[in-house]
Amino acid sequence: MKLKKRPKPKPAVRGQSNVETAYRHFGLRTDPFTTLALQGHDLDYFVGRAALIDRLLSAIFSVSNIGVAGEPGVGKSSLLQLLKTRIPRDFHSVSIGVPLDDASYFLSELLREMLVAISPVPGLNFKEIGRRLEREGLTKNAVFSITRSIISRLKKPLLVFVDDLEKIKGDRVQHLTRSERTLQLLEELKAVLELPNVGFLIALQEEFYSKVSQVVREGAEPTVLGLFKHVVLVEKWSPAEFKEALRARLESAGFKGEWEDFLEPEALTLALSLASGNPRRFFYLLSEGMYRGFQRKGKQVEFQDLFEAVNEHLKLDLVCKKLLYFLAKSGRAVASNSDLQAFMGLDMISIARRLEILSKNRLAEMVDVADGAKVYALPGTRETITETKSRPPVQITHTTMGEKIYNLLDGQEP
Ligand SMILES: Nc1ncnc2c1ncn2[C@@H]1O[C@H](COP(=O)(O)OP(=O)(O)OP(=O)(O)O)[C@@H](O)[C@H]1O
Ligand SMILES: [Mg+2]
Repeated sequence: MKLKKRPKPKPAVRGQSNVETAYRHFGLRTDPFTTLALQGHDLDYFVGRAALIDRLLSAIFSVSNIGVAGEPGVGKSSLLQLLKTRIPRDFHSVSIGVPLDDASYFLSELLREMLVAISPVPGLNFKEIGRRLEREGLTKNAVFSITRSIISRLKKPLLVFVDDLEKIKGDRVQHLTRSERTLQLLEELKAVLELPNVGFLIALQEEFYSKVSQVVREGAEPTVLGLFKHVVLVEKWSPAEFKEALRARLESAGFKGEWEDFLEPEALTLALSLASGNPRRFFYLLSEGMYRGFQRKGKQVEFQDLFEAVNEHLKLDLVCKKLLYFLAKSGRAVASNSDLQAFMGLDMISIARRLEILSKNRLAEMVDVADGAKVYALPGTRETITETKSRPPVQITHTTMGEKIYNLLDGQEP
């Protein structure tokens, strides 16, 4: 099957040869922290999601339409790639992997991929269809009816994997949000989504999930959403999953030793906290940290390396750095604590002020009030303790520096 490689956003790092020198410095054969979706051999270090995979495979085998939603970088594409490797020969399967923004283009892409991936069916001349598709610019209706007649003649059901439908932009002219625009596009594709003998598995943006999961679950069918039999959410990672992925990646990059030999535990705590469940953010931070560790000629990637990476955007002072380190090391900080005051060489009021600065920047959060004193921890570490995996989507209403860095880490303009 011929898969079109879509251009992936390159992580904002230095030149390739420098990255190479950086991982070689730490005794690695390959770059363990690629932030691209897993494909091919890389799927060997696919982590977790076992229950979701089983659920999705049984839905796929029943040839229904499935939506796979999740925030950017949480692992939708990697999941789709893994699922594709599990499709038995009793199905045809095709993938559409370029950002799509209009229904005619989507239909043409589908037909194009079908012509490549499926052996010709009796009564239809694939070569001729391909030629007409490329040269004559068939109308949307013509493309649809050819697609329909191919599908109706297939002996095996067809599975269509659609990635990047979630990359649809909103429509500023018509004041449509991305979710509304996605819905509109799905509405335009209704006829093909409804065809028998074909099931679509579509990656969707997270907002879409929060909007539609209820409707799908209740089986209501007033809209195009009735076309989905399931819409599942790809969950953020738990700390255990991050650690497993880190181990797997270091091992496959040829690292000899435990992860603790590569990464200072406090640095991992900081990375986990800033990643807030998002694998791409995590690997991006580690990649940046590794680079700084290499520049420092360190033996290990340390807290300070990750801190420097983050701080390039945040411009915090040394006191904040020390406080963050304390939080990563001891889990909790209370300004009135005399050990903390001694460690920082500051009085209670100065520490309380810094803790507030960190918390405004989303680098710390208040987790408790004990004896009238505010207790702070790194963000997300409350979940670390209770191992809560699913969190409701967070409505972010104000812009802070912390968000700014999240946006930067996601490769978006703040
Ligand atoms: N199950 C997994 N095991 C190991 N690494 C993973 C897994 N899922 C995702 N990753 C890693 O996380 C990063 C982001 O994954 P991926 O590109 O699949 O996310 P996505 O949800 O498709 O992102 P986007 O919304 O930008 O398309 C990549 O570095 C990928 O290698
Ligand atoms: Mg993706």
